[in-house]
This record gives sequence, C-alpha cells and structure tokens, in this order.
Amino acid sequence: MKINSGQKLLKKAKSIIPGGNQLLSKRSEMFLPDLWPNYYKKAKGCKIWDLDGNAYIDFSGMGVTSCILGYANEKVDKAVKHAISNGSMSTLNCTEEYELAEKLISIHPWSRMAKFTRSGGEACSVAIRIARAYSKNDRVAICGYHGWHDWYLSLNLDNKKNLDSQLLPGLDPMGVPKNLKDSTVPFYFNDVKSVNALKKYDDLGVIILEPMRDVEPDKEFLDSIKNIKKKTNAVLIVDEITSGFHDNYGGLHLKHNIQPDIAIFGKALGNGYPISAIIGRKNVMDICQDTFISSTMWTERTGFAAALATLESMEENNVQKINVKNGKYYKKTILNQCKKINFNIEISGCDSMPGIKFKYPESNKMQTYFTQEMLRLGYLAGSKIVFSLAHNKTIIDKYIKDSISVFKRILQYIESNKTLPLLGPEKHKTFRRLTGKKNG
Ligand SMILES: Cc1ncc(COP(=O)(O)O)c(C=O)c1O
Repeated sequence: MKINSGQKLLKKAKSIIPGGNQLLSKRSEMFLPDLWPNYYKKAKGCKIWDLDGNAYIDFSGMGVTSCILGYANEKVDKAVKHAISNGSMSTLNCTEEYELAEKLISIHPWSRMAKFTRSGGEACSVAIRIARAYSKNDRVAICGYHGWHDWYLSLNLDNKKNLDSQLLPGLDPMGVPKNLKDSTVPFYFNDVKSVNALKKYDDLGVIILEPMRDVEPDKEFLDSIKNIKKKTNAVLIVDEITSGFHDNYGGLHLKHNIQPDIAIFGKALGNGYPISAIIGRKNVMDICQDTFISSTMWTERTGFAAALATLESMEENNVQKINVKNGKYYKKTILNQCKKINFNIEISGCDSMPGIKFKYPESNKMQTYFTQEMLRLGYLAGSKIVFSLAHNKTIIDKYIKDSISVFKRILQYIESNKTLPLLGPEKHKTFRRLTGKKNG
C-alpha cells in the first residue's frame, strides 16, 4: 500500500500553513506521525479515499464526531445543493434560520430562543457573552473542553497545567491577555468537592460544562451544580457540541434531567456542514439585543439547510437508536473477545462514541502500532470510534475481528519481550509545535 502522497503534501502545507490547518485532534501526529494519509479525495458513507487511491473504513471519528448520517449523505447534500442553486447568500435573510430555531426549541421545550454561528468555539464565546451580560458577573467556571478562545484558554494563565485534566493537556495560553488571569476557574467532572469549592466566588457569573465525555454524570455531581447555581445565580450552560444528537435525539442534558439556561450545539447538527446553535431561556437569550453579537456569515444558508435535513433524517431513520445499538454491541463484543485472549482494555464514553484504552505501561506505543496495522488492513482507527448510520453489523464485525488479530500480535511482542515494530514515531499525546523553533 502506497500512502505517502498525503504526507508529502502535508510537509509542503506546513511550510505555508503554520502547524497545519487546525483542529488539533484531527492532526496526523495525533494518530500516526509521518504515515497517516492526512488528505482525502473523496468520502462517502463510512469510507474515505486518500490521495493514492486507498480506501479506508473510518473508525476514527467520522469528521471529529460530526457525520453521524455518514459522509456525503444524499438527503443533506440535496438540501444544501438546493440552497446553493437558490443563492446561499444574499442581502436578505434565508427563511431556514427561523425553521431551525423553531425546530430546536421544539426538541428542547425548556428553551424559547436561539442564535446561530458557524463553529463550536465561536458558539461557546457567544454563549459566554450572553451569560456574562445577563448575570452581570464576569467569572466563568468550566468543566470540559470549550474551544480555543481567550476566555477559555485564560484558565492556563495561572498554571499551564490547569487545563490538562479537562480533555487537552499542553495548551499554551501565549497571546491570551494576562489580565484575564483568574477570570475562568475549573471544576472537575463528577467531583462534588470541586463544585462546592466554587462557593467562594461571589462574582461567579457562568457555569459551563459538557454533560458527558468518558463516564455518565453522577446525581450528586449534578445536584451540587444545581445548588451552586441557586446560591450564586450564575447562568448554567451545557456544551453539547460533541455530546448532542449522538446517544439521543437532542441534547444529552434531556436524558440526565439537567435544567440549563443555555445549551450549545454544533458538529452533528449539520452532519459536517458548518452550523452551530445557542438555545436558551427567553429572559437570558433576550440580552442579545443589548450586547453587540454579530457576524456576516452567520446568515449564510447552507448550514441551516443542512441542519434541517439532518434533523429530519435523524428522525426518519432512528439514527440515535441504531448508533447506540451498534455501539453497545461493539463495546460488549470487543470486551468479551479481549477477555478471551487476555488483552487488557478499558472501554468508556457514550454508547454511540466508545473510547478504547490499552491498560499497559506502553499504551501510547501500542496505540500507535494498532493504528499503523489497522491502516494496512484498510481502516482509519484511533482510540475513539464514532458510529454512523453507514456502519453496519458486517463492517463492525470485521473491524472487531481485525482489531483482535492486531491485539494478538501486540500480545506476542509483549510476551517475547520484543519492541513493537513502529514504522514512524509514536503518536503525540498533547498539543505541541510541529515545525521549526519557537521564536521568542
Ligand atoms: C464540547 C466542545 N465544545 C466546543 C468545541 C469547539 O468546537 P469547534 O471545534 O467547532 O470550534 C468542541 C470541539 O471539539 C467540543 O467538543
């Protein structure tokens, strides 16, 4: 298998796109440095074709959790093409924005109003502005990942390791104004003590959390957030950019009976087309009229058209039910089969987005080897799977069988005290500079 055209292009791209085009978790180096195909020609269903014509089944995230109907979904693409041929941008607004607002509010009856952006981090920044404007207090308490913006990264001004346990370690706040120090403070998932510690801030204006990453939220944790909210009058935001519309139709907060003031969606909402939404209670959201929040491309039509078609398709096809069923099946089967061969793994995450961890000291090397060998077998495989409507049982069974064959090989190397034969460097675990030296 020849897979170097993508890497050759990436090398050239890095010389004019510093650090490559972000998202961090999409970087080649986070999977298989120097060998990951990096660029694609075509994607359809759960298949991706690289620049050398190799086809892979995607078991590594489906566009960082966004394409749960599968790539190039016909219904969604048809709606987008219709929007394009009728003018995707104009001096006047498209009607789809109203339809999408109505739809999201009807799925989340506690909410009354909606605003829209394109990317998730941008939607988080809008939500934070609204919440601060409403509460009249600046301090934000966070739990989870909420994008790259100053308000979030400022948490690392105090200590560069503050964000390490909130999904992404190694984030440098260089360029973030130093006077933002202490304006954002952390609390930790399912850690009631860290929530209660927020009581000391009498200027707490906003509490933002992801409703779930690896494990389900405990009742005590959610109750403690409710109490802090009551005590401080802070605005409660659930960031559903990754969790939304995967295990259930709508936000995961509905399943866990969390009662937020604002919820944020992105990623899966448009099945890969750029659309994000901020929905919320009327009194909170209405402050948008008093604080300046505005952007030209927020009225562009394709994102709205894609989101409406995506939601319709999710309803018609029972997408969440199918993805959860497949995810549960994968989790159960891989655990059973690993037990049989004495391969030690841990499975976490929502049912439709399981994560796999190798419970060995050299887990990062093993993960890199796994990705390398699965690539040879025709898969894009990492440590997190995102199930889509295109992943049927035959594909999943074959993936499990092939995974087990690689696990067996890893065990043979371990048992004979041999080093795993990696063809390139180990995958990165954190954010880091990719080329040249840091200047100043
Ligand atoms: C929970 C959460 N919030 C915010 C973001 C940022 O969204 P985006 O990458 O679209 O800016 C992400 C992206 O991974 C996310 O998972």
